[in-house]
Amino acid sequence: MVKPAHIAIIMDGNGRWAKARGLPRAAGHRAGVEALRRTVRAAGDFGIDWLTVYAFSSENWSRPKAEVSDLMGLLKTFIRRDLAELHQSGVRVRMIGAREGLSPDIRALVEEAETLTVANRAMNLVIAFNYGGRDEIARAAQQVAEAVAAGTLDPAEITPEAFAQFLDTRLIPDPDLVIRTSGEQRLSNFLPWQSAYSELVFMPCYWPDFGPAELDEAIKRFSERERRFGGVVARTVAS
Ligand code: IPE
Ligand code: IPE
Ligand code: MG
Repeated sequence: MVKPAHIAIIMDGNGRWAKARGLPRAAGHRAGVEALRRTVRAAGDFGIDWLTVYAFSSENWSRPKAEVSDLMGLLKTFIRRDLAELHQSGVRVRMIGAREGLSPDIRALVEEAETLTVANRAMNLVIAFNYGGRDEIARAAQQVAEAVAAGTLDPAEITPEAFAQFLDTRLIPDPDLVIRTSGEQRLSNFLPWQSAYSELVFMPCYWPDFGPAELDEAIKRFSERERRFGGVVARTVAS
């Protein structure tokens, strides 16, 4: 069975999970963190090298203030409570997304997690936080324009490979599999550049109900796909 090296997940449906139980949305987000813990462990057990999770989008700032603050608080709690265990399990943690818009305490925690786990090799966990694909590409374009203006980059050298070196994901392989829970079938600005040839798997369950069995099912569905990367024969990687 061909296993995806990099799985990226749009963790969606916390609010509807809570609503179905007559609970506030915040309870759904808390349950979502439990699902994240389970999924990181399961991905490690399944031998997945890279796991990227969409935790807060650049558009999620448009939610009510209290909900935004709940989500910021949950990221802090997750790092504070889980960093030691992640580190012990050999997980390297990184964040993609715009750091400028985040409060200093969150930025410090993220940097602490990245620095502590920098040498870990068992698995990579990438947290997409204050992330939006269009924002990422626009920030990359700003850096490219600055390099051209400074005379260090020739516009003729701006190939897709060269441009990708300016994205937040410069050291991260493209996702092989993108999973979205909650039944919605859209990317919502998640890794639009990087998912150009990813297999997409949409699952009906709400994110708080996701766990090892659902991850296993998504991996099975991935292994049944035939990837061609624009060619005529099945391939496991782009040439
Ligand atoms: C996903 O669940 C979590 C985030 C977007 C942060 P939602 O909060 O989007 O839950 P629904 O989609 O409203 O059910
Ligand atoms: C995408 O979910 C963002 C995250 C999972 C963090 P949303 O719930 O924000 O997406 P839309 O609004 O349904 O497209
Ligand atoms: Mg949603």
